[in-house]
Amino acid sequence: MEKNQVRFVPIKHCSKATERMHGAYFRDFVQMMLCHAWSIGILEAELWGDIPNIAKAAVLHDVGKNALPQKIVNKKDKLTTKEYEEMQQHTILGAAFLDLLVPEVKDSDIYDYAREICFHHHERVNGRGFPQGLCGDEIPTYVQVVSLADVYDALRTDRSYREAIPPEKAVKMIYDEECGAFDPDLFDAFEPLFEEFWKLAHTLAKDTHPLD
Ligand SMILES: [Fe+2]
Repeated sequence: MEKNQVRFVPIKHCSKATERMHGAYFRDFVQMMLCHAWSIGILEAELWGDIPNIAKAAVLHDVGKNALPQKIVNKKDKLTTKEYEEMQQHTILGAAFLDLLVPEVKDSDIYDYAREICFHHHERVNGRGFPQGLCGDEIPTYVQVVSLADVYDALRTDRSYREAIPPEKAVKMIYDEECGAFDPDLFDAFEPLFEEFWKLAHTLAKDTHPLD
């Protein structure tokens, strides 16, 4: 798709209080996961100082969905094969959206991380993710952590097509690869901590200005 063909719904959608709050707690959730991954040596040592920037960038992971028909994004029933293929495009569209930003934004500390996260947060270590089918170490570790946070958050949150899934079941679904395959070492590192981090992030988000 050519850049000038990309059409986004108005940015006002991002200013809804609920979405701003979601952005704040997702940022904090990701930051906790990244800090833990760093502390146990899973995340590259040199990324320590950039963890806050990666966490901020992670909030933009699904920005490409704004370019999709909202009847698909908010559909309550199972997506058809064609709709699912269209939904997968939000990764490419998100990166394309960031490519359209002005140079001042591209020079920001979060731009490169945001673009990588938008493009690859649905890749899976067994190569069965999208859009490129990357395998294992081809997916940056910080992107794998954001992907894991995204999956856990999605399972634990009410959706248009279902209610939030309880923590034990959410963990089992990830373990059973119902949301795609993750690095077993990464999963093991977070399995006991998902819910604690997730709840703490909600608490922090209530006490701080969303996305400040
Ligand atoms: Fe996504």
